[in-house]
Amino acid sequence: MSEVNRIWRLRKRPVGDITDDVLSFEEESIPEPSEGAFLFRLNYLSLDPTNRIWMSDMDQYMPPVELDAPMRGVVCGTVVKSHHPDYAEGAIVSGLGVWADYQIGTPQIVSPMGDTRPVAVVDAFSTFTIVGPTAYFGLLDIGEPKEGETVVVSAAAGAVGSIVGQVAKIKGCRVVGLAGTNEKCAWIQDDLGFDVAINYRTEDVPKTLTAACPDGIDVYFDNVGGEILDACLKLMNFKGRIPTCGLISQYNATEPVPGPYNYAMILMQRLRVEGFIVLDFAERYPEAIATLGQWMAEGKIKVRTEIVDGLENALQTVKKLYTGANTGKLMIRVKDV
Ligand SMILES: NC(=O)c1ccc[n+]([C@@H]2O[C@H](COP(=O)([O-])OP(=O)(O)OC[C@H]3O[C@@H](n4cnc5c(N)ncnc54)[C@H](OP(=O)(O)O)[C@@H]3O)[C@@H](O)[C@H]2O)c1
Repeated sequence: MSEVNRIWRLRKRPVGDITDDVLSFEEESIPEPSEGAFLFRLNYLSLDPTNRIWMSDMDQYMPPVELDAPMRGVVCGTVVKSHHPDYAEGAIVSGLGVWADYQIGTPQIVSPMGDTRPVAVVDAFSTFTIVGPTAYFGLLDIGEPKEGETVVVSAAAGAVGSIVGQVAKIKGCRVVGLAGTNEKCAWIQDDLGFDVAINYRTEDVPKTLTAACPDGIDVYFDNVGGEILDACLKLMNFKGRIPTCGLISQYNATEPVPGPYNYAMILMQRLRVEGFIVLDFAERYPEAIATLGQWMAEGKIKVRTEIVDGLENALQTVKKLYTGANTGKLMIRVKDV
């Protein structure tokens, strides 16, 4: 066990894009677990769009990270010292932690991953901790897609969006995805079976979306908000559903963001627009994991993961999420298990 703990601390709230001075990378001593707690060593750190929300003090769904505190993250690690009977040394755990090599876990925020076989730990962590359940519950519980309906998803080649589109295909829907590069569009259409892919950066979205959805939109799974939300609102069918999963187009905004211009469609078409956080479904995670795992084993769902080595690269890597430079679920690897 190394003698120092490398740790990222929040030093400044970002204004606009995340800059290099927002976090500092320090060497500190390794903490000691108290009774009922345990110490674990980081294996993988999930990098998620919500990291930018937690760095800020905008209104949010959990308290922002305090200035000078360790940066919060979703983590996977190995227990190295334990004062808790249910967390033996060597156990693989995952949950809410911090961007640090060594950290203290408690059962309230970190759970044993158990035996993930035949799925590798890295894949189980990547797909089943956040993005898979987000796609599963957001689409099926809130979107309620029915066979033959049209489902549109934004950030469609991303970690959540790519699963949403594939689940919608399994449910017999026509699926249209929006993504930011031709390579991402080709992947979702040719490899994942989306019916139409639209490059929202190079195409006229209202025009191509109208052509791609001749029968209107029944479910718009919103990962981005902003102009794409507006274009979708315009095409929503009577009693359409909009699961509001994320608003990544506005996380880095420096000015208040205007509301959607087509807001009236919510009234005219009697739409249901419902925000959700995946933690709302925590008790039903086993259902999502079992079903998604089955679909993955059957080859009906494919996932893409982008793994970057080295905790020291976390700050530069997280920035990729907001420019679209990531391809698939973005993670840092410190040590494989
Ligand atoms: N509600 C929840 O519990 C929950 C849980 C997890 C994630 N989320 C949300 O789900 C969304 C996707 O998250 P993810 O983890 O799957 O990340 P991701 O999609 O793998 O990565 C983020 C993607 O967002 C796209 N993007 C970035 N800026 C954009 C902009 N201005 N306009 C349109 N697209 C933009 C980029 O793809 P392109 O190259 O295609 O632009 C980028 O690759 C995020 O909004 C996130 O906050 C919500």
